[in-house]
Amino acid sequence: MEQLALGILEKSKTKVIAEILNGFNGFKIEFIEKIGSDDIAQLIEVSEELVKKFGDSAKLTKSNITKYFNKDTLPFVARQNSKIIGYIIGVPLEYFTKEAWSHYDINLGKDNTMYTYAFVVSEQFQGRGGYAKSLKRVYLNYVKKRNYKFITGHTELGIAKNFSKDTETVKIFPEWYNSRVSFEYYRRPIK
Ligand SMILES: CC(C)(COP(=O)(O)OP(=O)(O)OC[C@H]1O[C@@H](n2cnc3c(N)ncnc32)[C@H](O)[C@@H]1OP(=O)(O)O)[C@@H](O)C(=O)NCCC(=O)NCCS
Repeated sequence: MEQLALGILEKSKTKVIAEILNGFNGFKIEFIEKIGSDDIAQLIEVSEELVKKFGDSAKLTKSNITKYFNKDTLPFVARQNSKIIGYIIGVPLEYFTKEAWSHYDINLGKDNTMYTYAFVVSEQFQGRGGYAKSLKRVYLNYVKKRNYKFITGHTELGIAKNFSKDTETVKIFPEWYNSRVSFEYYRRPIK
C-alpha cells in the first residue's frame, strides 16, 4: 500500500552503463531511471556510510528517497554481484534554491550546474581504486553529455583540489550541519 501511495515501482528501472571486468568481475554501474522498492533497503544501508560523517540528515529513508532518485536527478549505483555497494547522485543546483548555501554560487538560476549531492561507497570497497573511480567517471561523462558546464559539491576541506587543477573553492564552511570538520563548496568546470 505504501509503495503504491509513493508511486514507487516494485523493481527499479535501470540502464547498465558499464560492466567492469579485469579484476572487478561482477561489478557494474547502473543509471537509475526509476527507483524500485527492491533497491531501497540496500541504498539505505549504504547511506549509513554518510551518516558516520554527516549525521542523520544524510540518511536515505523510504520517504526521502524520491527526492534524490527522480526524473530530474542523475542517480547512479554501483553493484557488486547484484548488491548495491555505492552511489553518486547529481542534482541540478536550482533544486536547492531554498537552501542558503546555494546563493553563494553565482551560477544559481543559470541551469548550468550539477551539484553532487552524495558520493558514497561501502567501507569495504573504499580505497580499492576502481570502485569509486569508475562510479565517478561514469557520472562525470553523463553530466558532460547533458551539457552542464560545472559540477559542484561539498567536500571536506582540501579534498577538491585533487579533482582537477581548475577546480576552485567557492566558499569554506567551518561548520557544516552536524559535522565537526570544515567543508568547502567547490566548482569544477566540465571540459
Ligand atoms: C568519497 C568516497 C566514495 C571515495 O571512495 P574511495 O574508494 O575512498 O576513493 P578514492 O580515494 O580512490 O577516490 C576515487 C575518486 O573520487 C574522488 N573523490 C574522493 N572524495 C571525493 C568527494 N568527496 N567528492 C568527489 N570526489 C571525490 C577522488 O579524487 C578520485 O578521483 P579520480 O578518480 O579523478 O582520481 C568514499 O571515501 C566514501 O564513501 N566516503 C564516505 C562518504 C563521503 O564522505 N562522501 C563524500 C561526500 S558526499
